[in-house]
Amino acid sequence: MRKRTNPRLTHKLILGTLVICIMGFYCFTAQTHHVTNSVSMASCAQVTPHVHVWNNSSAEKVTCKPKVNLMFMKTHKTGSSTMLNILLRFGEKNQLKFALPHSRNDFFYPSSFFRSQVKNYRPGLCYNIVCNHMRFNAPEVEKLLPGDAAFFTILRDPAELFESSFHYYKAYVPQTWRIPGKNKLSEFLTYPNRYFNPEGMNSFYLRNLQFFDLGFENHLEVGDPRVNESIEYVAKRFQLVLISDHYEESLILLKDALCWQMDDMLFFKLNARRAVAVSSMSPELKAKAREWNGADWKLYQHFNATFWARVEAYGRRRMEEDVRELHRRNAEMEAICIDGRGAVVAEDITDGHMKPWQPIGEATILGYNLRADIPQQFSELCRKMLTPEIQYLTDLGVNLWITRLWGWFKDNVLS
Ligand SMILES: *[C@@H]1O[C@H](CO)[C@@H](O)[C@H](O)[C@H]1NC(C)=O
Ligand SMILES: *[C@@H]1O[C@H](CO)[C@@H](O)[C@H](O)[C@H]1NC(C)=O
Ligand SMILES: *[C@@H]1O[C@H](CO)[C@@H](O)[C@H](O)[C@H]1NC(C)=O
Ligand SMILES: *[C@@H]1O[C@H](CO)[C@@H](O)[C@H](O)[C@H]1NC(C)=O
Repeated sequence: MRKRTNPRLTHKLILGTLVICIMGFYCFTAQTHHVTNSVSMASCAQVTPHVHVWNNSSAEKVTCKPKVNLMFMKTHKTGSSTMLNILLRFGEKNQLKFALPHSRNDFFYPSSFFRSQVKNYRPGLCYNIVCNHMRFNAPEVEKLLPGDAAFFTILRDPAELFESSFHYYKAYVPQTWRIPGKNKLSEFLTYPNRYFNPEGMNSFYLRNLQFFDLGFENHLEVGDPRVNESIEYVAKRFQLVLISDHYEESLILLKDALCWQMDDMLFFKLNARRAVAVSSMSPELKAKAREWNGADWKLYQHFNATFWARVEAYGRRRMEEDVRELHRRNAEMEAICIDGRGAVVAEDITDGHMKPWQPIGEATILGYNLRADIPQQFSELCRKMLTPEIQYLTDLGVNLWITRLWGWFKDNVLS
């Protein structure tokens, strides 16, 4: 009997090879480009664009000037996509200038950031906002922004973050494929040294990812003095470090630090996973995850402490009231914008433009349907609040052909 090759499989293989060749070529040329281009330039001039502020609301007395020059160090798996949406809307509303990535949604992560990775970058150009994924590199970021720019970032309990990263990126980290058993997460954390290979492809997703994102070495032992030095560095460089596990409180502190209005802080939770796709971790497993990610755990503990000290300074009562107000305003927007069922799985999202990006092999990330009867004055705001990151960046003019090509490949060939 002759063996018949499946024509669909052959098709997939040919297409897959083609896509990989194109992307490989792209990565090679782009890498070369950024190396040759990174000569040192003068830092940018101090300009603060005009921002119109309402100064007539009795509830919010404006006594400060809103900050418009911002560096948001977007960490992975920390609720940072929701924050990105807030920043993109603020920037658009106030006609601020974004330093956007070129043809993808990050600045060549996991490579270090270089300003030549910014779309249409020319020496001497100055921006208001930098907010896409990158591996932080302070001197390069600083050269894009006025000297008064506010730097902030967001951290998450490394136990939760590890769980999220382990699942979301598993297809990108080949060393996780050979972990046996049903609960790979637990197996890995019980015997990390059996499974972890620091030289393996994308291994940074498996250890101290926050340290890595912030530009530091991610294999340091907790006792290493460089862990302490790195934490001190973050404390000096960033005006504010938010805590993802207390999202609303974080936004209120941010609003206060940036002198923004409650209107600017409204949000819907974006890029969340279906509850069934989140594995619950026992206290023992959490402890193992924190021990394994010791540098991140130390980092987190430090900034969790400074966070609550800031809440204290802000006023506990005042914080509670403001969080309640933010809840109320978000619920109001939800009633106006979102179709009754709340967050839904991708296949139930009717408008293709509203479908979120999915990890390889499974559609666990939730999105939303817009209500059909949104009053005219809210329709644009609703749409923007619910637009996923990739589509929003495309709307802002980032040509994401490489990301779209990869997305197509991922959804049609890999699954
Ligand atoms: C807001 O109004 C107060 C009182 O009228 C004034 O002192 C203050 O400068 C105003 N703030 C801004 C940002 O315009
Ligand atoms: C402030 O005044 C402007 C112009 O008079 C008005 O359009 C706006 O709605 C007012 N804002 C608030 C929050 O009262
Ligand atoms: C780093 O070490 C110094 C000196 O031992 C100590 O005072 C400081 O609190 C440490 N910082 C952190 C973030 O642990
Ligand atoms: C963060 O700090 C608060 C206040 O000190 C504390 O109650 C909480 O347990 C800390 N969280 C973690 C995960 O350590």
